[in-house]
Amino acid sequence: MEKPFNPFSLEGKVIVISGAASGIARQCAINCSKMGAKLILLDLNEEGLKETMTMVERPEEHYWASVNLLDYEKVGGIVKEAVEKVGRINGLLNCAGISTTNLFKLTKPEELDKFFHVNVYTGYFLAQECTKMGNLSKEGGSIVFFSSVAGSFGEVGKSTYGMTKAALLNLAKHLACEMARKNVRVNSISPGAICTPINMNLPHMKDPEKRAALEAQHLLGLGETSDIANACIYLLSDASRWVTGTNLFVDGGFSVR
Ligand SMILES: NC(=O)c1ccc[n+]([C@@H]2O[C@H](COP(=O)([O-])OP(=O)(O)OC[C@H]3O[C@@H](n4cnc5c(N)ncnc54)[C@H](O)[C@@H]3O)[C@@H](O)[C@H]2O)c1
Repeated sequence: MEKPFNPFSLEGKVIVISGAASGIARQCAINCSKMGAKLILLDLNEEGLKETMTMVERPEEHYWASVNLLDYEKVGGIVKEAVEKVGRINGLLNCAGISTTNLFKLTKPEELDKFFHVNVYTGYFLAQECTKMGNLSKEGGSIVFFSSVAGSFGEVGKSTYGMTKAALLNLAKHLACEMARKNVRVNSISPGAICTPINMNLPHMKDPEKRAALEAQHLLGLGETSDIANACIYLLSDASRWVTGTNLFVDGGFSVR
């Protein structure tokens, strides 16, 4: 029998997801597994990864490893081992990241270094490993960098976080040029505010008044993790085969005004 028309299917695709122990990336793992993908899940939080593995479809098909992505040399070995077990890589969601609200006048160089290392360099080098010969599928693949509306719009206390997210927007464009000949598409996604552990303890979510103001900035209210995960399915699937070097705002209308 002919398969039903589904341009968003991830059947047979191997997808690497960083940060998969929590929040948006965990939801990406769940939703991608429902679309038929085989997963390689990475995070430094082992307990969280184990919990994610109880939530995905067909857990026996996937690979997970607890790793600090700052440990660049170790990451290479893990990606190689994962490919041997699961197969060559068709897609990468570079989701692992950290967030903060801090004032410009109080920010120390060490803090900037930390944010650039975790939010930019880990994704850069993970993408490098995933696209190495022998690791990347012969058909090519799709890479998604997780930026944020903070990478395009100004806000008090968001210079550190926002600069790292702006760097990812730019990185996606340059890599799109460099990787097109390998048939690797590279895009970024810019979520608006989603309720996840990364931001629950930050003032803009914790303080009821600030939270209400944040909600009011999003025409459709705050987002859910699946709003982002489903957009990632589009960017990973063949439905977006002619899309590269672009940034997709998934922000409930935050960027309209
Ligand atoms: N939640 C939001 O409102 C929002 C909005 C815009 C963008 N984003 C971006 O989406 C991504 C996911 O956000 P989230 O809200 O799901 O966050 P989260 O805190 O729930 O998850 C982030 C995950 O990254 C992992 N991680 C952090 N540093 C790591 C490292 N060095 N090595 C391995 N793993 C590491 C953490 O362990 C955690 O599991 C982030 O890049 C974030 O900046 C989130």
